[in-house]
Amino acid sequence: MKPVPEASPQIIGAAEARTGTECPEPRAEGGRYLVTGGLGFVGSHLVRHLLALGVQVTVLDSDRTSTRADRLRAGVPAGSVARLRIVAGDVRRPEDLHDALADGPFRAVFHLAAYSVIERAAQDPTGAIATNAIGTVNLLDALRRAPSALPDAVVIASTDKVYGEMEGSRYTEQSALRGIGIYDAAKLAGDVMGQAFHQSFGVPTVVLRLCNVFGPDDRNSRYRLVPRSLSLIFDPAGPLPPELYFESIGHWRDYIYVDDVVTALLLAAGHPACRGEVFNVAGCVNLSTPEVLRRVVEAAAEYERRLDPERAERIMANGFRVVVRGQTPGVTTISRQHLDGTKFAQTTSFRARTDFDHGLRVTVRAARAGYLDPTAGPVLAGTTR
Ligand SMILES: NC(=O)c1ccc[n+]([C@@H]2O[C@H](COP(=O)([O-])OP(=O)(O)OC[C@H]3O[C@@H](n4cnc5c(N)ncnc54)[C@H](O)[C@@H]3O)[C@@H](O)[C@H]2O)c1
Repeated sequence: MKPVPEASPQIIGAAEARTGTECPEPRAEGGRYLVTGGLGFVGSHLVRHLLALGVQVTVLDSDRTSTRADRLRAGVPAGSVARLRIVAGDVRRPEDLHDALADGPFRAVFHLAAYSVIERAAQDPTGAIATNAIGTVNLLDALRRAPSALPDAVVIASTDKVYGEMEGSRYTEQSALRGIGIYDAAKLAGDVMGQAFHQSFGVPTVVLRLCNVFGPDDRNSRYRLVPRSLSLIFDPAGPLPPELYFESIGHWRDYIYVDDVVTALLLAAGHPACRGEVFNVAGCVNLSTPEVLRRVVEAAAEYERRLDPERAERIMANGFRVVVRGQTPGVTTISRQHLDGTKFAQTTSFRARTDFDHGLRVTVRAARAGYLDPTAGPVLAGTTR
């Protein structure tokens, strides 16, 4: 194994991470950061946060429509737009990675680009493996070929889906990796390659296994539970009941608010002890899927009561409806998921600070503004603290 590059002075928040039980507030010490998938849900929150910390950011994202790039730029203070560079590129194409890496050296790289929706990965297994597995290898290989430009940390967003069906009451990092759905397996390959590039070449990877992330501005409203439900509840033609798939009635999942994921990513990048490690990132709550829907409906109705009481009544009266969807080929249905986040908490003092219902209220407000009040402008980040 090649030696791991010596830890540079803390990038972000590592000093605070060692003391106290409160989750440290991450900070950045200047320089440039690369975010792959930076136009996506988590990525755009991370980019806005990095810009607010005063650093320079390069985004590499394959989305070539101007909508999300414009939206990202619109959501940051005018003065920080000059510190943001957006490169339209695909992690499946090494030449695109070289373009983005030419902006370096980077203090840290956050690798979020992915086929991130389970159903989409199942529809296109080749695309999913090419992006989630080979795309990760392309990035790591490009980084290791320029050792003088190696960042202090390469944080890879992995997922609790790599574990597959749970044995016992929670997954630890030692639990067997049994993710066998197309998305699960493609992410698992990227996750393991992250570890392999540390072991084999000393690339300072940190793999974070995330649970279900929720928060404002998740554009994946076709499939993901919270944004899908809110898109129906705030349908401009009148509230529609969100759908609970019959197959998921018995499912339990961890949830984490997006600001807390941003904190986790930054702490992972900033703490030298994280390099070469894999961590579960514990959420704020473990809930059954019907309970999530019940809370989404209640939070939406509660907020709507102040604005349009009659509409609020209809939201409550609609509740949610159970729909039989049947098994989707390529999608595994893991019944219960729950991450043990002790290792990450002990290493960085991280804990998810945002209460589920509080985060949901912020998410509801943003969704309502987006669907029913187009003049409201982005209601995005920095919203819970
Ligand atoms: N959101 C969650 O609940 C969750 C949970 C666990 C893990 N994750 C992981 O976190 C990361 C971010 O998730 P998200 O919710 O922001 O997803 P997202 O779909 O909102 O964002 C992903 C971004 O990656 C970009 N992208 C896709 N393929 C690409 C490619 N080949 N080259 C370059 N860019 C590409 C997309 O255009 C998009 O902007 C993903 O790696 C995902 O697997 C997310």
